[in-house]
Amino acid sequence: MSNPISGFSKLSKAQKIEWVSKNYFKANEQATEVLQRYWNSDKELQKLHDDFIENTISNYYLPMGIAPNFLVNNDLYAIPMVIEESSVVAAASNAAKFWLDKGGFTTQVISTTKNGQVHLNFFGNTADMTAFFGVIKPILIASISQVEKNMKKRGGGLLDIQLIDSTSTLEGFFQLHCTFETLDAMGANFINTCLETFSQTLEREAKTYKAFITSKNYPEVVMSILSNYTPECLALASVSCHVDLLAQKDLEGRLFAQKIVRAIAIAKATPRRAVTHNKGIMNGIDSVILATGNDFRAVEAAVHAYACKDGHYSSLTHASVENDIFKMWIEVPLALGTVGGLTSLHPLVGFAFDLLQKPNAKKLMQLVAVAGLAQNFAALRSLVTTGIQKGHMKMHLMNILNGIQATDTEKASAVKHFKANQISHSGVISFIEKQRA
Ligand code: MEV
Repeated sequence: MSNPISGFSKLSKAQKIEWVSKNYFKANEQATEVLQRYWNSDKELQKLHDDFIENTISNYYLPMGIAPNFLVNNDLYAIPMVIEESSVVAAASNAAKFWLDKGGFTTQVISTTKNGQVHLNFFGNTADMTAFFGVIKPILIASISQVEKNMKKRGGGLLDIQLIDSTSTLEGFFQLHCTFETLDAMGANFINTCLETFSQTLEREAKTYKAFITSKNYPEVVMSILSNYTPECLALASVSCHVDLLAQKDLEGRLFAQKIVRAIAIAKATPRRAVTHNKGIMNGIDSVILATGNDFRAVEAAVHAYACKDGHYSSLTHASVENDIFKMWIEVPLALGTVGGLTSLHPLVGFAFDLLQKPNAKKLMQLVAVAGLAQNFAALRSLVTTGIQKGHMKMHLMNILNGIQATDTEKASAVKHFKANQISHSGVISFIEKQRA
C-alpha cells in the first residue's frame, strides 16, 4: 500500500507519474510507458486534454465510428458515435439502411424547458412563507438581471419561479422550483449561477421580513442546484411503414411487426427486461452524446428516471400496428448543448458537429433520439429473429483475435473460418492454437 500524499495536484505531470509508478507499480517502467504511448505528440492538443480535468496523466481513447444513411425528416445524416462495444455502430448502420427506403425517421422536439431548485428548510408558519415568496419573487427575478442578460437577448433565460410546499414529503421542506430556457447551451452553469443568486437574495430578504423576525423562524437555504431530471426537455423520434415492408428472411412482415410490438410489451411488463431494453437504447444515445461532447451521466440519470415516470421502470420505446401500419417511437428527455462546455473545446466534437451539419441543440436532441430508436430497433430485430449473438460475436471476433495477438494471416483465416462456424471465445482460441501448432 502507498502512503497518503498531500499536494498531489501541484506536482508536474512527470512527478505525478513518477509517484504513481513508485507507489503502485514498483517503479516498473511498463506502467509509465503505457501512459506515455497515449500522449499526443501535438503538444498543444495534449495541453488541451491535460487541462480538461485535474491530475491528468494520459489520454483514454475510445473509437469514434460513423453510422451513415440516417434519413431524418428527409435530410440524410452520417451520425458520429463514440463507443467501445463492437456491434453498436454496425447495428445503428443496419437500422439506418433498413429505414432509408421506408421514409426514414421523423422527429420532433416536444419541449425544451430545464429546471433547478433552491431547497429550503422552513419550520415556521406556511402562510408566512407563502406571503414572503409573493413579496420577494420580483426581487429574486431582478437579482439575476445581470446574469441572464445575454441569455435573454438571445430569447432564453428564466421562465418562472414557484414556491413548492413539500412539507408533506419531508418536514419543513420547501423549494423554489425554477424553470429556464437555455437555448443551445446545456445550461448547467447558467442555471446554477441563477439559483445561487436566488438563494443569497432570499436569505438576505428573509433577515428583514417582519413575520420571520416576529416568529424567529427564518427560511434557511440547504442547497441550490439544477435538476438533471428534465421531463420538460423532450425529443420524439419515430419510424413507420406498412407491415408488408417489414418482411425478414423466413418471417412475414406482419409477424415480424407483431414480434416487435410484443418484445416492447414485455419490456413494459418487467423491469428485468426493460433495463436491458433501455440499455440497448442508451448504446445509441450515449455514443452520440459522447461524440458531441455532452454530459452522458446527466442524460443517463434523466432517461432512467423518465423510464419510471408511470410508477415503475418501463420501456422508453413504444410500438403499435394499426390498419396494417407498423409504428415504433421513442420519447426521451435530452438536455443537450451545442455551445459551451466541451463542445467548443474538443476538436473531435467540432468534427462531429460539422458532420451533423452544425445542429443547434434542438436538432441534436432529435438526432440523439433517432440514434436511440435505431439501436432499439436493431436490437429487437436481432432478438426476435436470429438472436443477438450471431451479429455481436461477428463484430467481437476481432477483439478476441487482438486479445491473443493474432497475426494478420491468422486473422484472415479466422474471419474466413468463422463465417460458416459459430463464434465463441474458446472456439476462436482453439482455432488459432491449432493454426499455430
Ligand atoms: C447489448 O449491448 C444491448 C442489448 O442487450 C439490448 C437489448 O437486449 O435490447 C442487445
